[in-house]
Amino acid sequence: MNRHIPVLRDEVVQGLDPRAGENLLDLTIGRGGHALEILKKTAPDGRLVGVDRDPDALAHAVELLPADRTELVHGNFGDLPGLKESIGSGTWDLVLADLGVSSPQLDVPERGFSFRNDGPLDMRMDPTREGTAAQLLEGLTEGQLVTLITELGEDRHARRIAAAIIRARAEQPIRTTGRLASVIRATVPNKGDSKVDAATRTFQALRIAVNGELEALQHLLDRVGSLLSPGGRLAVISYHSLEDRKVKATFRTLTQEGDHRLVTPRPVRPSMKEVSRNPRSRSARMRIICRLGVDR
Ligand SMILES: C[S@@+](CC[C@H](N)C(=O)[O-])C[C@H]1O[C@@H](n2cnc3c(N)ncnc32)[C@H](O)[C@@H]1O
Repeated sequence: MNRHIPVLRDEVVQGLDPRAGENLLDLTIGRGGHALEILKKTAPDGRLVGVDRDPDALAHAVELLPADRTELVHGNFGDLPGLKESIGSGTWDLVLADLGVSSPQLDVPERGFSFRNDGPLDMRMDPTREGTAAQLLEGLTEGQLVTLITELGEDRHARRIAAAIIRARAEQPIRTTGRLASVIRATVPNKGDSKVDAATRTFQALRIAVNGELEALQHLLDRVGSLLSPGGRLAVISYHSLEDRKVKATFRTLTQEGDHRLVTPRPVRPSMKEVSRNPRSRSARMRIICRLGVDR
């Protein structure tokens, strides 16, 4: 239950093509699965700085990663100036951002991310910060809810769901994942033949909003040039089209400006074998870019 299977693990290593001695900045270290594979290739002395906004992820990553080559930092890649106070202002040969949530975050009911388990409606990746999903839901007008579910959940039932949430909220504040899920399912019943739960998109929208995920990604993408060494490679794995669109647009601009080249002309997707082994990988798209400057 508390495991995370790294998505596109072999493709990340193949695409980033790590070499002995190269340094790695993993901006979403999670349980450290990707980083560990990359460290095997950058041995014996390639260093890793692993960042995560979730202190629990760092507490587990430290168990897996070689202490003599690793530094772990609690921080948010949506605040690079703040992060650079801890990680330094240098540049990196390899940068990885594996976006979204980890399996442990989804699977632990107390974290409040999942409609499959009942728990507090929390959804903060960084529980040291204020602002749970329940608090967000409490403060939004019906119109704001419609916008949130439409724009961040891309759910065509947004109006019905928002109206149902407002009605339920008037009876009693919605404080648990179970109650929110049942309010949504009572409005948009699950279809027998659909694998997607009616609550999926609203939960996605709330999670993205609670954690400012799109703002953090845009902040990072706007500063990619300041992170990579000449010849350095950045891989971004995204899990929904809102993220992938931003990555695609930024990579296109950077290559048009002439100082980067695309390593992956098309997004890399998981194989059918990977999806059947790890269904959570199914929406993953990876794009890699390389900063020009040395012969690679
Ligand atoms: C998909 S998991 C990464 C899994 C990791 N690659 C592994 O192999 O275990 C995403 C992780 O990124 C973290 N995260 C998401 N957004 C972040 C941000 N803006 N800054 C720092 N960490 C973030 C989450 O807390 C989560 O632990």
